[in-house]
Amino acid sequence: MKPLLIRAIAQEKLERPPVWMMRQAGRYMQEYRLLKEKYSFLELCKSEELAFEVSMQPMRFLDPDAAIVFADILLPAESLGIEIDFNPGPKIINPIKTPSDIRALSLEDPWKKQSAVFKTIKKLRETLDGEKAVLGFAGAPWTMSCYLIDQGIIKHFQNTQCFAAENPGAFFELQDKLVEQTICYLLAQIESGADALQIFDTWAGNLSLDDYKTFALPATQKIIAEIKRQKNTPVILYVNGSSHLISEMCNAGADCLSVDWRTPLSEIEKLIPKHISLQGNLDSTALFLKTEEIVRKTSEMLSSLQRKTGYIANLGHGILPTTPRENAKAFVDTVKNFNY
Ligand code: CP3
Repeated sequence: MKPLLIRAIAQEKLERPPVWMMRQAGRYMQEYRLLKEKYSFLELCKSEELAFEVSMQPMRFLDPDAAIVFADILLPAESLGIEIDFNPGPKIINPIKTPSDIRALSLEDPWKKQSAVFKTIKKLRETLDGEKAVLGFAGAPWTMSCYLIDQGIIKHFQNTQCFAAENPGAFFELQDKLVEQTICYLLAQIESGADALQIFDTWAGNLSLDDYKTFALPATQKIIAEIKRQKNTPVILYVNGSSHLISEMCNAGADCLSVDWRTPLSEIEKLIPKHISLQGNLDSTALFLKTEEIVRKTSEMLSSLQRKTGYIANLGHGILPTTPRENAKAFVDTVKNFNY
């Protein structure tokens, strides 16, 4: 049997929706925090044994329907000559300041620096039951640019928006390089066994609809179009703060849109065509409530949808690091006990 998540995206009729959580591997799990006493975040990502172990931790405790490879959206930028560190958020050692910094970026084979990502995916696919999906992922070029130009320290990424407006030629050259790098990276993940891919355009929600169409969407479209030309692996597109962008996200070519918690799913559902699946969107802060409330809110979310297919239950953004893990389990269990 194909993984439940893949069947949901293919809009098959199912008994219940599949469920997983963005950032399901990480600091809210004690097993992860113990490993972090011994290893840095980059050490965890760069070792296929450790990255596999961390990806498996939520599978053992929560038993969701998908495993996501433990890595970070910034890692593949190393293949363009960008040096990164984490503390705990990403830090760019050689940020992009001028158009000539962009000209200097050149792409090397992603296997050189990211082999652990591909080997972890392979091991996850070999280990997990066929009903579980293995998810690969990458950051979208706009969100990557926000880190490469603004260094990820500030929240508004005004330098990235100014850079794009003032140096459109260089900005689009950067987008093209990121598109090429992301296609190579995602294809290698598919070849290693990823069943589906999620593209995180976390920071695109800061853009106006016009700027999204000009600066962010085209690069995402090119990546998805090339993946689709070569493979039929489903692609999920996530944007945080996306309510005003839904109409254009529908043009990205993604099979499934992952939306944040700010707008109810029942409203979002009216805005997207039936053939595009939907993922989301419980507020991550709901996982700090009492169990009964988590069960109530999750059940309400599931019953609020008109559609009885083409839906993946998830949070509206990553799980927060101080979330009690039993509460994460209550969320996953509520979805698993739901019946269409
Ligand atoms: O379980 C999973 O979802 C897989 C692992 C994963 C990480 N980062 C691990 C991580 C994934 C899918 C990501 C994606 C990612 N990274 C995104 C897109 C998703 C989103 O949350 O919007 C973004 C924007 C990043 C950039 C990034 N990396 C940030 C902002 C941070 C700091 C986060 C924080 O909460 O402090 C990181 C570091 C990071 N990536 C950690 C983890 C587990 C924390 C590192 C640590 O444990 O010290």
